[in-house]
Amino acid sequence: TWTTDAFVEEAIREIRARVGDKRVLLALSGGVDSSTLAFLLYRAIGDQLTCMFIDQGFMRKLEPERLVKLFSEQFHIPVAYVNARERFLAQIQGVTDPEVKRKRIGHEFIRVFEEESRRLGPFDYLAQGTLYPDVIESADTNVDPQTGERVAVKIKSHHNVGGLPKDLQFKLIEPLRKLFKDEVRKVGRSIGLPEEIVLRQPFPGPGLAIRILGEVTDDRLDILRDADLIVRQEINRAGLYNELWQAFAVLLPIRSVGVMGDQRTYAYPIVLRFVSSEDGMTADWSRVSYDLLETISNRIVNEVRGINRVVYDITSKPPGTIEWE
Ligand code: XMP
Repeated sequence: TWTTDAFVEEAIREIRARVGDKRVLLALSGGVDSSTLAFLLYRAIGDQLTCMFIDQGFMRKLEPERLVKLFSEQFHIPVAYVNARERFLAQIQGVTDPEVKRKRIGHEFIRVFEEESRRLGPFDYLAQGTLYPDVIESADTNVDPQTGERVAVKIKSHHNVGGLPKDLQFKLIEPLRKLFKDEVRKVGRSIGLPEEIVLRQPFPGPGLAIRILGEVTDDRLDILRDADLIVRQEINRAGLYNELWQAFAVLLPIRSVGVMGDQRTYAYPIVLRFVSSEDGMTADWSRVSYDLLETISNRIVNEVRGINRVVYDITSKPPGTIEWE
C-alpha cells in the first residue's frame, strides 16, 4: 500500500542516485506542487538545488514577500528572488485583448527564465512539478532516444507557452510524476509544508493581470490587490477558505455613478467571484451568506480608493469560466 513516508524515502533515494553531484534548477511558484518539490529536493541534495522565484508583479497582496520569507526564514531553503515586475508590466502596457495579454506574459516568463538560469547556472537538471495527469497528455517534453530520459524543450509553467533554445534544454527531474493532486498534498504535509501552502486555492499563471479586465496599470493593480485582500480576510474569518475552490475579486475597467457622504462618485466596480468545484473543469457559484457579502461589500467600498460598487457573479461554469479573461 502507498504511504507518504515510503514515497518520500524512495523519491529521495532516486533523486540522489540520478543527480549525483550535479546542479538542479527549480522554478518556484508558491503553489503546493512546486513547494512540495522544493522540500523533497532540498532534503535530497541540499545546496545543489537552486530555487528561483520570478515575481511578475501580478501576485496577490503580500504573497511574494510571504513566500520568500517562508522559504528562507522558516524552511531555510534559499530562494533566488527575481524582481521582474517592471518588465512584465511594460510587456502588456496598452494591451486589452485577453489572449494577447496571456501570450505576452507567458513569453516574457520564458525570457526571464532563460536569462536568470544562464546567470545562476549552469544547471544539468530542471525539476518540474509534473503530476500524473500531466504525464499522460504531455506535449512539452521529448524523450532522448539514447537514454530514454525525458528532456524539457518547454517550461511547464502554468503559462503553457514558449520553447526553450537548444543550449538550454535541461534533463528533467519529476519526482511527483506518479502522483495525483491529493497525494501531493499528503506528501507536502508529511514533509512539513504548512497548511497555508498545502491548501492554497488555485491561482492562474498570469495572476491578477487577467483579473483586471482591459488594460493593466500599476494603479489598477494596487486597487485590485487591496480589494482582493479584504476578500481573503473575510473568507478566512468566515472559515470558508478551504471550502471554496476559489474566492477572489475582479476589477472591471468601466465606471459607474455612486454617492458617498454628499459627494457624487464615479469609479470602478469590483466583481466577487466565489466558486465551488471538484477540479476546475466545472464549477458552481457559491451560495455564501448575504451577511458575508454585505461585510465584504461595505469594507471594499469604504476602504478601497477608486471603488464605489461591488457585484456578485452568479454564473456557473459552463457557460461562464471561473476567471474573467
Ligand atoms: P477557467 O477560467 O478556465 O479556469 O474556468 C479554470 C481553472 O484554471 C485556473 N486558470 C489557470 N491556471 N494558468 C493556470 O495555472 C492559467 O493561465 C490559468 N487560467 C485559469 C483558474 O484559476 C481555475 O482554477
